Amino acid sequence: MKKAGKWGALLALTGMMLVAAGCGNSASPAANSSQPAASTPAPAANNSSGGSGAAEKKITLGFAQVGAESGWRTANTKSVQESAAAAGIDLKFSDAQQKQENQIKAIRSYIQQKVDVIAFSPVVESGWDTVLKEAKDAGIPVILTDRAVDSKDTSLYVTFLGSDFVEEGRKAGQWMLDQFKDATEDVNIVELQGTTGSAPANDRKAGFQEVIQSNPKLKIIASQTGDFTRAKGKEVMQAFLKAHKDIDVLYAHNDDMALGAIQAIEAAGLKPGVDIKIISVDAVKDGMQAASEGKINFIVECNPLLGPQLMEIVKNVVDGKQVEKRIVTKEGTFTSEQAKEALPTRQY
Ligand code: AHR
Repeated sequence: MKKAGKWGALLALTGMMLVAAGCGNSASPAANSSQPAASTPAPAANNSSGGSGAAEKKITLGFAQVGAESGWRTANTKSVQESAAAAGIDLKFSDAQQKQENQIKAIRSYIQQKVDVIAFSPVVESGWDTVLKEAKDAGIPVILTDRAVDSKDTSLYVTFLGSDFVEEGRKAGQWMLDQFKDATEDVNIVELQGTTGSAPANDRKAGFQEVIQSNPKLKIIASQTGDFTRAKGKEVMQAFLKAHKDIDVLYAHNDDMALGAIQAIEAAGLKPGVDIKIISVDAVKDGMQAASEGKINFIVECNPLLGPQLMEIVKNVVDGKQVEKRIVTKEGTFTSEQAKEALPTRQY
Protein backbone atom coordinates (compact mmCIF):
# COMPACT_ATOMS: atom_id res chain seq x y z
CA MET A 1 0.00 0.00 0.00
CA LYS A 2 1.34 3.44 -0.88
CA LYS A 3 1.93 6.20 1.69
CA ALA A 4 0.74 9.63 0.78
CA GLY A 5 2.66 12.86 1.37
CA LYS A 6 6.30 13.61 0.56
CA TRP A 7 7.16 10.06 -0.43
CA GLY A 8 4.17 9.93 -2.75
CA ALA A 9 5.40 13.11 -4.38
CA LEU A 10 8.91 11.64 -4.62
CA LEU A 11 7.58 8.52 -6.33
CA ALA A 12 5.64 10.59 -8.80
CA LEU A 13 8.78 12.66 -9.52
CA THR A 14 11.07 9.68 -9.95
CA GLY A 15 8.46 7.95 -12.10
CA MET A 16 8.38 11.03 -14.32
CA MET A 17 12.18 11.05 -14.53
CA LEU A 18 12.22 7.46 -15.72
CA VAL A 19 9.53 8.06 -18.27
CA ALA A 20 11.46 11.11 -19.46
CA ALA A 21 14.53 8.91 -19.76
CA GLY A 22 12.57 6.82 -22.25
CA CYS A 23 12.90 3.46 -20.52
CA GLY A 24 10.91 0.75 -22.17
CA ASN A 25 8.25 0.84 -24.78
CA SER A 26 5.35 -1.45 -24.14
CA ALA A 27 5.19 -0.18 -20.58
CA SER A 28 7.15 2.79 -19.33
CA PRO A 29 9.06 1.79 -16.20
CA ALA A 30 8.17 3.96 -13.26
CA ALA A 31 8.37 3.84 -9.52
CA ASN A 32 5.76 1.68 -7.92
CA SER A 33 5.47 0.50 -4.37
CA SER A 34 4.03 -2.68 -3.01
CA GLN A 35 4.85 -2.55 0.70
CA PRO A 36 4.44 -0.10 3.53
CA ALA A 37 7.02 2.57 4.16
CA ALA A 38 9.80 2.05 6.66
CA SER A 39 11.06 4.84 8.83
CA THR A 40 14.72 5.52 8.04
CA PRO A 41 17.10 6.90 10.62
CA ALA A 42 19.26 9.64 9.13
CA PRO A 43 22.91 8.59 9.08
CA ALA A 44 25.11 10.04 11.81
CA ALA A 45 27.37 11.95 9.39
CA ASN A 46 24.61 14.21 8.13
CA ASN A 47 22.12 14.17 10.93
CA SER A 48 23.35 16.94 13.15
CA SER A 49 21.40 19.72 11.48
CA GLY A 50 18.04 18.03 12.02
CA GLY A 51 17.00 16.59 8.71
CA SER A 52 18.33 19.01 6.10
CA GLY A 53 21.64 17.26 5.50
CA ALA A 54 21.08 16.79 1.76
CA ALA A 55 20.86 20.53 1.24
CA GLU A 56 23.83 21.45 3.45
CA LYS A 57 26.57 18.93 2.89
CA LYS A 58 27.70 16.97 -0.15
CA ILE A 59 26.49 13.42 0.28
CA THR A 60 28.94 10.59 -0.21
CA LEU A 61 27.50 7.37 -1.63
CA GLY A 62 29.48 4.13 -1.77
CA PHE A 63 28.20 1.90 -4.58
CA ALA A 64 29.38 -1.71 -4.86
CA GLN A 65 28.50 -2.92 -8.36
CA VAL A 66 28.28 -6.61 -9.37
CA GLY A 67 30.63 -6.34 -12.35
CA ALA A 68 30.44 -5.63 -16.06
CA GLU A 69 29.06 -8.99 -17.17
CA SER A 70 26.33 -7.79 -19.53
CA GLY A 71 24.94 -4.94 -21.61
CA TRP A 72 22.35 -4.50 -18.86
CA ARG A 73 25.05 -4.01 -16.25
CA THR A 74 26.91 -1.47 -18.39
CA ALA A 75 23.71 0.55 -18.79
CA ASN A 76 23.03 0.29 -15.05
CA THR A 77 26.52 1.52 -14.13
CA LYS A 78 26.22 4.45 -16.53
CA SER A 79 22.84 5.36 -15.08
CA VAL A 80 24.18 5.32 -11.51
CA GLN A 81 27.29 7.35 -12.39
CA GLU A 82 25.46 9.96 -14.47
CA SER A 83 22.64 10.34 -11.96
CA ALA A 84 25.08 10.80 -9.06
CA ALA A 85 26.88 13.54 -10.98
CA ALA A 86 23.57 15.21 -11.90
CA ALA A 87 22.39 15.07 -8.27
CA GLY A 88 25.65 16.49 -6.92
CA ILE A 89 26.35 13.31 -4.97
CA ASP A 90 29.95 12.24 -4.43
CA LEU A 91 30.02 8.66 -5.75
CA LYS A 92 32.58 6.08 -4.69
CA PHE A 93 32.20 3.21 -7.16
CA SER A 94 33.63 -0.31 -7.16
CA ASP A 95 33.31 -3.22 -9.60
CA ALA A 96 33.29 -6.63 -7.85
CA GLN A 97 33.92 -8.65 -11.02
CA GLN A 98 31.04 -10.98 -10.12
CA LYS A 99 32.71 -12.03 -6.83
CA GLN A 100 30.92 -11.75 -3.50
CA GLU A 101 34.17 -11.42 -1.54
CA ASN A 102 35.07 -8.33 -3.60
CA GLN A 103 31.71 -6.76 -2.85
CA ILE A 104 32.09 -7.46 0.87
CA LYS A 105 35.56 -5.87 0.78
CA ALA A 106 34.17 -2.81 -0.99
CA ILE A 107 31.35 -2.44 1.55
CA ARG A 108 33.84 -2.72 4.44
CA SER A 109 36.00 -0.06 2.88
CA TYR A 110 32.96 2.24 2.52
CA ILE A 111 32.23 1.67 6.20
CA GLN A 112 35.82 2.60 7.09
CA GLN A 113 35.60 5.71 4.94
CA LYS A 114 32.39 6.65 6.80
CA VAL A 115 30.36 7.28 3.65
CA ASP A 116 26.83 8.60 4.25
CA VAL A 117 25.00 5.81 2.43
CA ILE A 118 25.99 2.47 0.90
CA ALA A 119 24.14 1.01 -2.09
CA PHE A 120 24.87 -2.30 -3.75
CA SER A 121 23.53 -4.87 -6.15
CA PRO A 122 24.29 -8.20 -4.45
CA VAL A 123 25.96 -10.70 -6.77
CA VAL A 124 24.25 -13.59 -4.92
CA GLU A 125 21.35 -13.66 -2.45
CA SER A 126 22.95 -15.31 0.58
CA GLY A 127 25.76 -14.51 2.99
CA TRP A 128 25.32 -10.78 3.65
CA ASP A 129 24.18 -10.63 7.27
CA THR A 130 27.61 -10.06 8.84
CA VAL A 131 28.69 -7.17 6.65
CA LEU A 132 25.21 -5.61 6.69
CA LYS A 133 25.29 -5.74 10.49
CA GLU A 134 28.67 -3.99 10.43
CA ALA A 135 27.15 -1.20 8.34
CA LYS A 136 24.16 -0.95 10.65
CA ASP A 137 26.38 -0.79 13.74
CA ALA A 138 28.36 2.01 12.08
CA GLY A 139 25.09 3.91 11.50
CA ILE A 140 25.39 3.75 7.70
CA PRO A 141 22.12 3.03 5.88
CA VAL A 142 22.24 0.44 3.10
CA ILE A 143 20.10 0.49 -0.04
CA LEU A 144 19.75 -2.65 -2.15
CA THR A 145 19.51 -1.90 -5.86
CA ASP A 146 18.55 -4.30 -8.63
CA ARG A 147 18.98 -7.54 -6.62
CA ALA A 148 17.74 -8.72 -3.24
CA VAL A 149 19.41 -10.50 -0.32
CA ASP A 150 17.77 -13.35 1.59
CA SER A 151 18.52 -11.91 5.07
CA LYS A 152 15.71 -12.61 7.53
CA ASP A 153 16.48 -9.37 9.36
CA THR A 154 15.10 -6.76 7.00
CA SER A 155 16.26 -3.94 9.31
CA LEU A 156 19.73 -4.53 7.85
CA TYR A 157 18.77 -2.50 4.79
CA VAL A 158 16.56 0.52 4.27
CA THR A 159 14.93 -0.40 0.99
CA PHE A 160 15.19 -2.60 -2.07
CA LEU A 161 14.84 -0.83 -5.43
CA GLY A 162 14.58 -3.09 -8.47
CA SER A 163 12.62 -5.40 -10.72
CA ASP A 164 10.30 -8.22 -9.77
CA PHE A 165 12.32 -11.10 -11.24
CA VAL A 166 9.69 -13.74 -10.46
CA GLU A 167 7.20 -11.73 -12.48
CA GLU A 168 9.72 -11.53 -15.33
CA GLY A 169 9.96 -15.33 -15.32
CA ARG A 170 6.17 -15.58 -15.30
CA LYS A 171 5.91 -13.31 -18.34
CA ALA A 172 8.37 -15.54 -20.21
CA GLY A 173 6.37 -18.62 -19.14
CA GLN A 174 3.10 -17.05 -20.24
CA TRP A 175 4.50 -16.50 -23.74
CA MET A 176 5.43 -20.21 -23.84
CA LEU A 177 1.92 -21.20 -22.75
CA ASP A 178 0.31 -19.03 -25.39
CA GLN A 179 2.62 -20.08 -28.22
CA PHE A 180 2.36 -23.78 -27.56
CA LYS A 181 -1.21 -24.11 -26.29
CA ASP A 182 -2.13 -26.46 -29.16
CA ALA A 183 1.00 -28.62 -28.96
CA THR A 184 0.26 -32.29 -29.40
CA GLU A 185 3.85 -33.41 -28.83
CA ASP A 186 6.39 -32.56 -26.16
CA VAL A 187 8.02 -29.13 -26.48
CA ASN A 188 11.67 -29.40 -25.45
CA ILE A 189 13.06 -26.36 -23.66
CA VAL A 190 16.67 -25.68 -22.71
CA GLU A 191 17.38 -23.02 -20.11
CA LEU A 192 20.42 -20.77 -19.74
CA GLN A 193 20.39 -19.62 -16.14
CA GLY A 194 22.00 -16.47 -14.79
CA THR A 195 24.74 -16.47 -12.16
CA THR A 196 24.20 -19.35 -9.76
CA GLY A 197 22.68 -18.17 -6.48
CA SER A 198 21.76 -14.72 -7.80
CA ALA A 199 18.26 -13.39 -7.27
CA PRO A 200 17.49 -12.99 -10.99
CA ALA A 201 18.60 -16.55 -11.75
CA ASN A 202 16.61 -18.04 -8.86
CA ASP A 203 13.50 -15.96 -9.48
CA ARG A 204 13.37 -16.05 -13.27
CA LYS A 205 13.63 -19.83 -13.10
CA ALA A 206 10.93 -20.09 -10.44
CA GLY A 207 8.48 -17.73 -12.20
CA PHE A 208 8.89 -19.51 -15.53
CA GLN A 209 8.40 -22.96 -14.02
CA GLU A 210 5.38 -21.84 -12.02
CA VAL A 211 3.58 -20.84 -15.21
CA ILE A 212 4.63 -23.55 -17.69
CA GLN A 213 3.83 -26.40 -15.33
CA SER A 214 0.15 -26.05 -16.19
CA ASN A 215 0.94 -27.61 -19.60
CA PRO A 216 2.65 -31.02 -19.18
CA LYS A 217 3.81 -30.92 -22.82
CA LEU A 218 6.27 -28.11 -21.96
CA LYS A 219 9.43 -29.81 -20.72
CA ILE A 220 12.73 -28.32 -19.56
CA ILE A 221 15.18 -30.95 -20.80
CA ALA A 222 18.39 -29.16 -19.78
CA SER A 223 19.22 -26.21 -17.54
CA GLN A 224 22.64 -24.79 -16.81
CA THR A 225 24.24 -21.51 -15.81
CA GLY A 226 25.71 -19.24 -18.47
CA ASP A 227 26.73 -16.69 -15.80
CA PHE A 228 24.87 -13.89 -17.58
CA THR A 229 27.71 -13.58 -20.13
CA ARG A 230 27.77 -13.93 -23.91
CA ALA A 231 30.83 -16.21 -23.93
CA LYS A 232 29.36 -18.65 -21.42
CA GLY A 233 25.96 -18.55 -23.12
CA LYS A 234 27.61 -19.63 -26.37
CA GLU A 235 29.68 -22.35 -24.70
CA VAL A 236 26.73 -23.89 -22.82
CA MET A 237 24.46 -23.72 -25.88
CA GLN A 238 27.10 -25.59 -27.89
CA ALA A 239 27.00 -28.32 -25.25
CA PHE A 240 23.18 -28.37 -25.26
CA LEU A 241 23.16 -28.75 -29.06
CA LYS A 242 25.60 -31.62 -28.88
CA ALA A 243 23.64 -33.45 -26.22
CA HIS A 244 20.12 -32.83 -27.59
CA LYS A 245 19.08 -33.06 -31.23
CA ASP A 246 15.50 -32.01 -30.58
CA ILE A 247 15.59 -28.58 -28.91
CA ASP A 248 12.46 -26.52 -29.64
CA VAL A 249 12.93 -23.51 -27.34
CA LEU A 250 15.74 -21.70 -25.55
CA TYR A 251 14.86 -19.71 -22.43
CA ALA A 252 17.84 -17.45 -21.59
CA HIS A 253 17.80 -15.44 -18.36
CA ASN A 254 19.34 -12.46 -20.18
CA ASP A 255 20.00 -11.07 -23.65
CA ASP A 256 23.75 -11.53 -23.54
CA MET A 257 23.48 -15.29 -23.02
CA ALA A 258 20.82 -15.46 -25.75
CA LEU A 259 23.16 -13.59 -28.12
CA GLY A 260 26.00 -16.01 -27.37
CA ALA A 261 23.61 -18.94 -27.87
CA ILE A 262 22.51 -17.51 -31.23
CA GLN A 263 26.12 -17.74 -32.44
CA ALA A 264 26.22 -21.41 -31.38
CA ILE A 265 22.87 -22.14 -33.06
CA GLU A 266 23.96 -20.50 -36.33
CA ALA A 267 27.30 -22.33 -36.23
CA ALA A 268 25.33 -25.59 -35.95
CA GLY A 269 23.52 -24.72 -39.20
CA LEU A 270 20.21 -23.89 -37.52
CA LYS A 271 18.08 -20.74 -37.72
CA PRO A 272 17.60 -18.97 -34.37
CA GLY A 273 14.02 -17.85 -33.85
CA VAL A 274 12.78 -20.39 -36.40
CA ASP A 275 14.34 -23.83 -35.80
CA ILE A 276 14.79 -22.94 -32.15
CA LYS A 277 12.49 -20.31 -30.63
CA ILE A 278 14.23 -17.97 -28.21
CA ILE A 279 12.92 -16.12 -25.17
CA SER A 280 15.19 -13.82 -23.18
CA VAL A 281 15.16 -11.09 -20.54
CA ASP A 282 16.52 -7.50 -20.41
CA ALA A 283 15.68 -5.81 -23.75
CA VAL A 284 19.05 -4.10 -24.16
CA LYS A 285 19.83 -2.70 -27.62
CA ASP A 286 21.71 -5.76 -28.92
CA GLY A 287 18.92 -8.04 -27.74
CA MET A 288 16.29 -5.80 -29.34
CA GLN A 289 18.30 -5.79 -32.57
CA ALA A 290 18.30 -9.60 -32.61
CA ALA A 291 14.57 -9.61 -31.84
CA SER A 292 13.85 -7.16 -34.65
CA GLU A 293 15.66 -9.57 -37.00
CA GLY A 294 13.47 -12.41 -35.75
CA LYS A 295 16.34 -14.24 -34.02
CA ILE A 296 14.84 -13.70 -30.57
CA ASN A 297 11.08 -14.25 -30.48
CA PHE A 298 10.18 -12.64 -27.18
CA ILE A 299 12.00 -10.41 -24.68
CA VAL A 300 10.89 -9.59 -21.16
CA GLU A 301 12.09 -6.13 -20.20
CA CYS A 302 14.30 -5.53 -17.15
CA ASN A 303 14.98 -1.85 -16.61
CA PRO A 304 18.62 -0.93 -15.73
CA LEU A 305 18.06 2.83 -15.45
CA LEU A 306 17.80 2.87 -11.68
CA GLY A 307 20.15 5.81 -11.11
CA PRO A 308 17.66 8.72 -10.89
CA GLN A 309 15.43 6.88 -8.40
CA LEU A 310 18.43 5.74 -6.38
CA MET A 311 19.75 9.29 -5.96
CA GLU A 312 16.34 10.53 -4.80
CA ILE A 313 16.19 7.74 -2.26
CA VAL A 314 19.72 8.50 -1.05
CA LYS A 315 18.81 12.15 -0.48
CA ASN A 316 15.66 11.20 1.40
CA VAL A 317 17.50 8.70 3.56
CA VAL A 318 20.12 11.32 4.45
CA ASP A 319 17.32 13.73 5.33
CA GLY A 320 15.77 11.11 7.61
CA LYS A 321 12.60 10.88 5.53
CA GLN A 322 10.52 7.76 5.17
CA VAL A 323 11.18 5.49 2.20
CA GLU A 324 9.24 2.51 0.96
CA LYS A 325 10.74 -0.83 1.96
CA ARG A 326 10.28 -2.20 -1.56
CA ILE A 327 10.22 -0.16 -4.76
CA VAL A 328 9.41 -2.16 -7.88
CA THR A 329 10.28 -0.94 -11.37
CA LYS A 330 7.55 -1.40 -13.98
CA GLU A 331 8.51 -3.22 -17.14
CA GLY A 332 7.02 -4.45 -20.38
CA THR A 333 7.63 -7.16 -22.97
CA PHE A 334 8.58 -7.17 -26.65
CA THR A 335 7.69 -9.45 -29.53
CA SER A 336 9.86 -9.22 -32.68
CA GLU A 337 7.44 -6.71 -34.19
CA GLN A 338 7.39 -4.53 -31.08
CA ALA A 339 11.20 -4.68 -30.87
CA LYS A 340 11.44 -3.42 -34.46
CA GLU A 341 9.26 -0.44 -33.56
CA ALA A 342 11.05 0.35 -30.30
CA LEU A 343 14.63 -0.07 -31.53
CA PRO A 344 15.21 3.40 -33.05
CA THR A 345 14.51 5.14 -29.75
CA ARG A 346 16.01 2.55 -27.42
CA GLN A 347 18.32 4.22 -24.89
CA TYR A 348 20.47 1.29 -23.80
O1 AHR B 1 20.31 -8.32 -11.99
C1 AHR B 1 19.92 -8.01 -13.30
C2 AHR B 1 20.58 -8.96 -14.25
O2 AHR B 1 21.97 -8.90 -14.11
C3 AHR B 1 20.33 -8.69 -15.71
O3 AHR B 1 19.19 -9.26 -16.21
C4 AHR B 1 21.54 -9.33 -16.31
O4 AHR B 1 21.75 -9.03 -17.66
C5 AHR B 1 22.55 -8.78 -15.40
O5 AHR B 1 23.81 -9.23 -15.54
